[in-house]
Amino acid sequence: MCGIVGYVGRKKACGVLIEGLKRLEYRGYDSAGICVQYDGSLAMEKCPGRIVGLEQRIASSQPIHAGRVGIAHTRWATHGEPSERNAHPHTDGSDRIALVHNGIIENYVTIKKYLEDKGHVFKSETDSEVLAHLVGEFYDDGGGPLEAAVQAALAEVSGTYGIAVICADEPGKIVAARKGSPLIIGVGKDEYVIASDASAIIEHTANVVYLSDNEMAVITTEGCRTTTLDNVPVSKEIEQVEWSLEQIAKNGYADFMLKEIFEQPEVVRTSLRGRLDLRDMRVTLGGLANVARQLVSTHKLILTACGTAWHAGLVGEYLFESLARIPTEVEYASEFRYRNPIVEEGTVVMAISQSGETADTLAALREAKEKGALALGIVNAVGSTIARESDSGVYLHAGPEIGVASTKAFTCQLVVETLMALMLGRRRFMSQTEMEGYLRALAQIPDQISTVLEQSDYIREIALRHVERENWLFLGRGYNYPVALEGALKLKEISYIHAEGLPAAEMKHGPIALIHDGMPVVFVAPRCPTYDKIISNIEEVRARKGRVIAVATEGDEHIRRYADDVVYVPACPPPLQPMLTVIPLQLLAYHAAVARGCNVDKPRNLAKSVTVE
Ligand code: F6R
Repeated sequence: MCGIVGYVGRKKACGVLIEGLKRLEYRGYDSAGICVQYDGSLAMEKCPGRIVGLEQRIASSQPIHAGRVGIAHTRWATHGEPSERNAHPHTDGSDRIALVHNGIIENYVTIKKYLEDKGHVFKSETDSEVLAHLVGEFYDDGGGPLEAAVQAALAEVSGTYGIAVICADEPGKIVAARKGSPLIIGVGKDEYVIASDASAIIEHTANVVYLSDNEMAVITTEGCRTTTLDNVPVSKEIEQVEWSLEQIAKNGYADFMLKEIFEQPEVVRTSLRGRLDLRDMRVTLGGLANVARQLVSTHKLILTACGTAWHAGLVGEYLFESLARIPTEVEYASEFRYRNPIVEEGTVVMAISQSGETADTLAALREAKEKGALALGIVNAVGSTIARESDSGVYLHAGPEIGVASTKAFTCQLVVETLMALMLGRRRFMSQTEMEGYLRALAQIPDQISTVLEQSDYIREIALRHVERENWLFLGRGYNYPVALEGALKLKEISYIHAEGLPAAEMKHGPIALIHDGMPVVFVAPRCPTYDKIISNIEEVRARKGRVIAVATEGDEHIRRYADDVVYVPACPPPLQPMLTVIPLQLLAYHAAVARGCNVDKPRNLAKSVTVE
């Protein structure tokens, strides 16, 4: 999704802004732009396409390279095609005010009409340009300061925004505001870096201020003043970003996705650290300590999320019901938020999100709170909106996930859910002996993931054998049914191969009609109580000449009789299997995408963090 960077300080702004935009590239974008205050005016350049294109355009612009205050943007098109005129920054009618905007102004058509009647002429098709003109209109009426005009304009706007605004007549100042779209202010020595994502800031400072919804900041070299949008002063704490520059570099890997797949043993270890206690044989989740009693006695758990995080939620349904015996439902966040769900007293709603900024998941969390539920967050990005708005929660500690396709966050979501289910299970019905068995098995998972990763080259060979096929099926049962869904999603989003994931038994109820000579069908079939059933499903596919790729438990020679290719994962109890069985599917998708020449880190049409509805 769109990215914002702003700079106020002693350095030349251009370098910081372009570097910041590059750090945000992973979020997905189709055009970029920059605007710098210089000598009482604004110097601006923008273009469709890549940031390198923007760099070429500004190469000979002395003002852009000289100014010390500026804003920049990567746009992911919503209103209007990717083009120079639709790219940000946008200016007001006088070209004295420039604005970058993430989010959507829902009532822009009405405001545009009002402004057109007053003589405003628009250059772009965007909602964001309308906001720039509205700020300009109030600025002309009131004669400044800029923050007053921004406040007046935002009072007329409905929708979501993270914005950064500069004015040629107020040198040395950026006004930033947010509602529903993240903005972070990095606080350095005599300088501030504003960004929609911490990765554009950490090169400069680890000290940050997170703006909350309906807050704004007036940032100059003298300081940063924060208020509500109604101008009530707000005192904000400076917090620390834990991410390092090394974590957001590829470190020798061809792509971020591959790096993140291979990081999984380490991040799972980190996610377990301090929580899985093998000495006292128990689970400690500090983030839930204050709500543990409520959680243990809940009669219903609702897990809500989108995409891959929703698949983690589906695994969670099996975990919470079988290990903790808590009735659990999983809801797409986009459906939960709009269908007026019944949330009875005592219900716990848990939002699962890597970014902590997904618009639908955030709205679902707010809906749950509105209805009186205890609202928990399982989130990766520290300080993100979902993390801050949850009543309590657990961080994944997966480190920054830059690849658009979620991989390590998924496994860490499973880790956190498993820990939670065990903690609750033990307090409800689980015997200490059973608990100890799971804890010992869980402690093995990082090394077992390493064993699976060692087969990457072999999985690549399998991918190459089938990569020309345009339709694949992924099938699994029980804990491995959501893994099948996740395998299909990974393949389609990065390789553009059509893939469908299903519970294996559902195949007979329709999708079996698709199976024909040579169609790849991936079975997630480790040893588990439904193993024999899934073998029957494999036979059904073979009878129709499908090509079977099986993910099976080490030592299972029997399955070789039925499958064309077998990838083995180490043995572990069924509730823990998804953490292992998903790894071959991530690698299969990765190698298929690379073989087809796809850019796995920036798949077409996709953005890393979906902050629009
Ligand atoms: C798929 C993928 C998406 C995200 C979804 C939710 O690989 O990454 O499906 O899982 O957009 O994102 P978060 O977890 O940030 O809420």
